[in-house]
Amino acid sequence: MNPSVKIAGIDRPEEMLRAASSRNRDAIQTGRVELRVGSVTDLPYVASHFDKAFSINCIYFWENPVQGLKELNRVLKPGGVLAITVRDGNRYQAFRPKKLANMLAHAEFVNVRVLNNGISAHPLNCALGLKQASP
Ligand SMILES: C[S@@+](CC[C@H](N)C(=O)[O-])C[C@H]1O[C@@H](n2cnc3c(N)ncnc32)[C@H](O)[C@@H]1O
Repeated sequence: MNPSVKIAGIDRPEEMLRAASSRNRDAIQTGRVELRVGSVTDLPYVASHFDKAFSINCIYFWENPVQGLKELNRVLKPGGVLAITVRDGNRYQAFRPKKLANMLAHAEFVNVRVLNNGISAHPLNCALGLKQASP
């Protein structure tokens, strides 16, 4: 909604890049959105580049979730914010709030908390963490 914000996105398969590029054609043309093929465990960005990072419904598929979170930590600026959203429920045991919060802590995020959307028909948890600001 803020036209001055620039957004970068990655996914692994070319077909996802094509689908996302088609949906975001206008924003890509104006330079607001840049999409690439890549993996969260080896992000094609320099360190301390982004103010915020967001992922929804993805972390369960990462081959190494903590390594992915560490990569997100690397590309965030000090004080940058990470938000990881997941489905809540028994099918997602490995990503229940405490476990998700521990993963963020292992990836050196601080002030970690997990919020629930409170919608029983579609329960989601969102883990928030900050990259430690420089001393
Ligand atoms: C269930 S889809 C979610 C897509 C979208 N965020 C949504 O909620 O509709 C999970 C996505 O994670 C991607 N993915 C899995 N492992 C990945 C990795 N290591 N790096 C980047 N993307 C990955 C998959 O290719 C897939 O597009």
